[in-house]
Amino acid sequence: MMVIILRNDIIEILNNRKGEFISGEELSYLLKVSRTAIWKHINILRKEGYEIESVHKKGYRIVENYNSLLPGELIGRLQTQTIGRNIIYFESIDSTNDYCKQKGNDLSHGTVVISEEQLLGRGRLGRAWASPKGEGIWMSIFLKPHIPPLEGTKLTQIAAAAVCSTIRNVVGIDTLIKWPNDIVFNGKKLCGILTEMSAELNEIHYLIVGVGINVNTLYFSEEISDVATSIAVEIGKTVDRKTLVTNILKVFEELYEDFIIKGSIKKTIAICKEFSAILNKKVNIIRGNSIKEGLVIDITEEGNLLMLMENGEKEVIQSGEVSVRGLNGYV
Ligand code: BTN
Repeated sequence: MMVIILRNDIIEILNNRKGEFISGEELSYLLKVSRTAIWKHINILRKEGYEIESVHKKGYRIVENYNSLLPGELIGRLQTQTIGRNIIYFESIDSTNDYCKQKGNDLSHGTVVISEEQLLGRGRLGRAWASPKGEGIWMSIFLKPHIPPLEGTKLTQIAAAAVCSTIRNVVGIDTLIKWPNDIVFNGKKLCGILTEMSAELNEIHYLIVGVGINVNTLYFSEEISDVATSIAVEIGKTVDRKTLVTNILKVFEELYEDFIIKGSIKKTIAICKEFSAILNKKVNIIRGNSIKEGLVIDITEEGNLLMLMENGEKEVIQSGEVSVRGLNGYV
C-alpha cells in the first residue's frame, strides 16, 4: 500500500508542477525516500502508462497524456469527497462491473473502476456492450448504501441524471434520458447504465453502477449502427473524456448524497422528467415476448413509469426486466 501512496505522491508533485523538471534529489527530499527508490517508482509509473521524461542533470517532467484516463490525470481535477477518491485503472479488462463483483466487499465505498477498453462489456438483459480502446468512458462506481434493496434502482436514475446533465453542460448538446437507463441524442443511444447489486432480502452488501458512454467512437458495427451514436459523431469533434468523467462524478455525488443523507430523490427525478425522452409520448413496453402500448404520463417519486395503457387503465412500470421502445423506432 505504501508504495502505491508513494507513486501517487510522485504523480501529484509532477502534475502540480507540469512543464517543469524536478530533480530526483528534490523528489527524494520531499518524499523522504532514496533517489534510487524514486527512479524505481518512476519506471513503474511509466509501465503503468504515464509519460515521464527524464533529462540528465535536470530531473523528471510529466508529459500530459491528453487521451488517457489514468488516475493521476483525474485525481487533480476531481471535486468530490468520496466518489472516485480511489480509482482503479486498467488498460484492458473483461468488464469493470465484473471486476467489482469479483472484488466485492474488498473494495471501499466510492471506488471507481475505469478501463480504456472492455473485452466482455455487458449491457442490460444479457446484451453485449461494445467498449473499444480509448474511445469511451467505461466505468463502474462501487457503493455500499444503507438502503433497502428495492431502492437500488434509484441509483440508475441518479446516474442517468448525472450523465445527461453533465453532457448538456460540458458538451452543450440536448441529450435526453430514455427511462430507465439510456442517454440518447437525435434518437440514438449515447450511454447505457447497468446497475447490479449483491443483497439479502433487507440489506444491500454492495451496489455497482456501470456507466458506458460512447464519447469518441466514430464507427459502430452494423448490428448497432442504427441505434448507437457517440458524442464525437454528433458534434463532429473529439471530446476530452477526463472533463466528462470528473464532472459526472461530481454531479453523481451531489445527487447520491441528497438521496442517502437527506433522503431526497426529488432533484434526480426532476432532472429525469425535465430531460425525459419518453414523457407524454406513446411507447411500447416489452417484457419477454409481451409488447404493450401505452402513454407515459409521469415518472413517479420512486423512479417508476406511470402509464396510461391502451385498455384505459393506469399502470406503474418498474424497470426490472422491461425494455422501452418508441412506436416507430428506438426512441
Ligand atoms: C445498457 O445500456 O444495456 C447498459 C450498458 C452498460 C455498460 C457499462 S460500461 C462499464 C460497465 N461494465 C460493463 O460491463 N457494463 C457497464
